[in-house]
Amino acid sequence: MKAKMTVNKAFIISKIDPRIYGSFLEHMGRAVYTGIYEPGHKTADKNGFREDVKALVKELNVPIIRYPGGNFLSGYNWEDGVGEIGSRPKRLDLAWKTVETNEVGLHEFMNWANEVGSEVNMAVNLGTRGVDAARNIVEYCNHLGGTYWSDMRRKNGAESPFKIKTWCLGNEMDGPWQIGSKTADEYGRIAAEAAKVMKWVDPDIELVVCGSSGIGMSTFASWEATVLEHTYDHVDYLSLHSYYGNQKNDIKNYLAMSVGMDRFIKSVVAICDYIKAKKRSDKTINLSFDEWNIWYHSNEKDSKNEPWQQSPPILEDIYNFEDALLLGCLLITLLKNCDRVKIACLAQLVNVIAPIMTAEGGVAWRQTTFFPFMQAALNGHETVLRHNIDVPVYDCDDFKEVPYVEAVTIHNHEKNEIIVFAVNRCAEETVDFTVELQGFNISNIIEFSEICGYDVKQTNTKESCPVAPKAAQNAKIDGNQLIAKINPLSWNMIRVGL
Ligand code: AHR
Repeated sequence: MKAKMTVNKAFIISKIDPRIYGSFLEHMGRAVYTGIYEPGHKTADKNGFREDVKALVKELNVPIIRYPGGNFLSGYNWEDGVGEIGSRPKRLDLAWKTVETNEVGLHEFMNWANEVGSEVNMAVNLGTRGVDAARNIVEYCNHLGGTYWSDMRRKNGAESPFKIKTWCLGNEMDGPWQIGSKTADEYGRIAAEAAKVMKWVDPDIELVVCGSSGIGMSTFASWEATVLEHTYDHVDYLSLHSYYGNQKNDIKNYLAMSVGMDRFIKSVVAICDYIKAKKRSDKTINLSFDEWNIWYHSNEKDSKNEPWQQSPPILEDIYNFEDALLLGCLLITLLKNCDRVKIACLAQLVNVIAPIMTAEGGVAWRQTTFFPFMQAALNGHETVLRHNIDVPVYDCDDFKEVPYVEAVTIHNHEKNEIIVFAVNRCAEETVDFTVELQGFNISNIIEFSEICGYDVKQTNTKESCPVAPKAAQNAKIDGNQLIAKINPLSWNMIRVGL
């Protein structure tokens, strides 16, 4: 099979906001306790955080981490997580039916995020709380000092403000499963008022307002429109959430799910721009795809969980090779929409539907999905180029005319290189893949790496990591063309020097 992609140096989609490679860490399951934090662990630092996990998070190069939830957020009192650790309350977490000890809270997480080199995307509870708690946490985190909340931060050990730039206004507020869920008008009003006063406390912050919990919600589209009617002038981004799974065990259909993600993004862009037109506004609302991932392997096990445990193993999906391929397609889709998707968070980061897993008292290890994410987060920077792609297509259960090759080309001006990410969705055929790079003088292939050749159900484990990138050979340069053979069912990264 042949595929030809054509790009031109002058035609760009947009510069990539590095926050597109964000992730998410919720107080649930073993994400925090026995995930990033395990005081008894042999690699624990003086604050009880695992160095082995920190090393893997750094390897993943995550620029921003959404925190502390998720559904957990909507019942959370942020004040429970500050002050002396021994005096913090234990609470029922009604979202996941577990017990939260609050041993890790705001300061501990901010320190940890700083150590792994990530910013924090802080979420405020608009389920059980409201405007007052929202403005107070911004004052606590971002105000210099000399006021009740900012002085409390200083007393608690952080003399300088945290200067958190990105904030989420609640979580999935249309979901009946959400503590304190709301109608679009109820949420729109409270989000607008919270946003207004949060920006009065710190005008430099950026705010993400909740879109509906998913495209499958009956409220989808009208929710977004109503919420934006209320909040348009006060917020900067609208959120999208979506999880994918191969429940049908049909790989052609599964790998086409990024086509659904693309449609979802374009639909939400259309809604944002409809409200923009209606309001005759100059302002553009961009998107924060702040929960995306594969989530289905653990569903059956989790339906049998005993309530009110402390950090039980929940949502511990073990990913396989086909999941890594879909994750690659989803990443490429986010990048192709980077003119509007400015923030995205792989949900989640450690143990809970995560690229990084830990064994309590044991090792930390990389899932199959770790690798395409890591390669993109390390190398996929600067500008996404517009492209035309000539490629055979297929039909499957849920989608029509799915291209066999999903690909994106990035121009990294700083490093003077071109990066191509490509997934071959076809199980049977190698693709002769040509990328015509108009307007570029290309010199050499810096790196061609691929993930391919495994049984689609092959997983990594804590003992071994078979699914990982390996060097590929079959690429060459001919004039301004990059010509590569991309293997059946493969994720590929090709870096070309200019
Ligand atoms: O990431 C797991 C859960 O998925 C989050 O808590 C929630 O926001 C979503 O439904």
